Amino acid sequence: MWTMSKLTLCLVGLMLVTSIQVGAQTKAILTIEPEGSTIISRHIYGHFAEHLGRSIYDGFWIDKDLPVKKQGRIRLDIVEALKKIRIPNLRWPGGCFADEYHWRDGIGPAKNRPKMVNTNWGGVIEDNSFGTHEFLELCKLLNCEPYISANVGSGTPDEMSKWVEYLNFDGLSPMTELRKKNGNAQPYHVSFWGVGNESWGCGGNMTAEYYSNEYRRYATFAKDYGSAKLKKIAAGASDFDYHWTETLMKNVGNRMWGLSLHYYTIPTGNWGKKGSATGFSEQEYFNTMERALRMDELITKHSAIMDRYDPKKNVALVVDEWGIWTDVEEGTNPGFLYQQNSLRDALIAASTLNIFHKHADRVKMANLAQTVNVLQALILTDKEKMLLTPTYYVFDMYKVHHDAKLLPIKFITPDYQLNGRKIPAINVSASKDVNGVVHISLVNLDAGNEISVTADLGDLKWNSVAGEILTSANVTDVNTFERPYQIQLSKFDQANKDGNRLNVKLPPHSIVTLTLN
Ligand code: AHR
Repeated sequence: MWTMSKLTLCLVGLMLVTSIQVGAQTKAILTIEPEGSTIISRHIYGHFAEHLGRSIYDGFWIDKDLPVKKQGRIRLDIVEALKKIRIPNLRWPGGCFADEYHWRDGIGPAKNRPKMVNTNWGGVIEDNSFGTHEFLELCKLLNCEPYISANVGSGTPDEMSKWVEYLNFDGLSPMTELRKKNGNAQPYHVSFWGVGNESWGCGGNMTAEYYSNEYRRYATFAKDYGSAKLKKIAAGASDFDYHWTETLMKNVGNRMWGLSLHYYTIPTGNWGKKGSATGFSEQEYFNTMERALRMDELITKHSAIMDRYDPKKNVALVVDEWGIWTDVEEGTNPGFLYQQNSLRDALIAASTLNIFHKHADRVKMANLAQTVNVLQALILTDKEKMLLTPTYYVFDMYKVHHDAKLLPIKFITPDYQLNGRKIPAINVSASKDVNGVVHISLVNLDAGNEISVTADLGDLKWNSVAGEILTSANVTDVNTFERPYQIQLSKFDQANKDGNRLNVKLPPHSIVTLTLN
């Protein structure tokens, strides 16, 4: 039997991650440093809204006759929900759609805007009624920063350059005049600009070498105007394509503010048959979590390449598409990517955010795909009905970490074992906010075991602990339009202070955020 002192020695000396089983009980040990220096950028809590399925049309942007509160055609119950979690930025108009989008089609009187076919997503007619001004109005209502992906695949450097000028220039120019004519005298000061999307695939099937040159060309003509210093984000690698990152870092380097990375968790690992969003076994749950946790490996390896070219970490890694991607719900358009959202999705979201925190020195921005009615959504709608998914509640709990200082952590976690395979049962992160308040977020991925966590908080001064928990009877549980609040946050009372130690009992498949007062 291992003793506590042996365990502590093991923790401090070797920082091993190991499994400790005491009878049926499982224990984890944690030490949290009282101070830190790396800021967790709030922009890792960003979201994504593509012209895809029911994300924009019948999501954010609704029929004028739908009986819900709206401003123009912007749906306000969605706006209110996203404001509550303090959404920091919203990426638009795609995704693959961005590389077929010509921004001039989406300005001016709606009745004059041309219609186009959305070739990527279901071949539906795009009427361009939601365009640049409507997106920026939405961002204003959300109080978030816009992140615009410009068209590199089928566009031109001039088109991108004029879009930037149209939005950001305040002086005398045809673009400024056009913006004024369309109702906005003042420039919008849009800083975040994606230069293409997935340029290795739907964004043009380019090689990394070819795209590097294209990036340099497009970026040259996208100028800074006034106070809007552009943060240009290069289209980055998919998953394990380390050659892409290497080439971009070598050929583009600090000409970019950020380099993106896309990683989706496919439950089966098979794009042809991804697996159901709701009907899955414990083995499928385990496999999915194993895949989701690979985000840590991916960021570690892409960052190591970036470190060689940029040791001072000036270029951000921007994970601007992530989340679980399952088969669509039965009876829905396969091109619309509409999927339900279970407690499993929330566990993925919380674990991924903990991974982003761990890499906060390099990961400065991220965007979950996608906000409303598409993939790992925060919000689902059905006509006038709207529900918040389990994933939404994670972003609600975790908002305390926005722009907070990351506190270094060491921990020993038991394993979650299934049929001879294992993953770490616990993942955790902690931060100190601007008021000096410490928040700790813990995730127990084990589907069957409660885990007792003992945290050594060293010199940290605190008097009491309060918390919130997100869990449910089964990892497959979802919120439905009939039962929209089956999964929601509740008060957590299984954390207590013992001297300067914090003891926590984490129920199986649960997410807890604690506040130390
Ligand atoms: O998010 C859905 C799609 O996934 C995006 O359009 C594309 O960039 C990615 O392949």
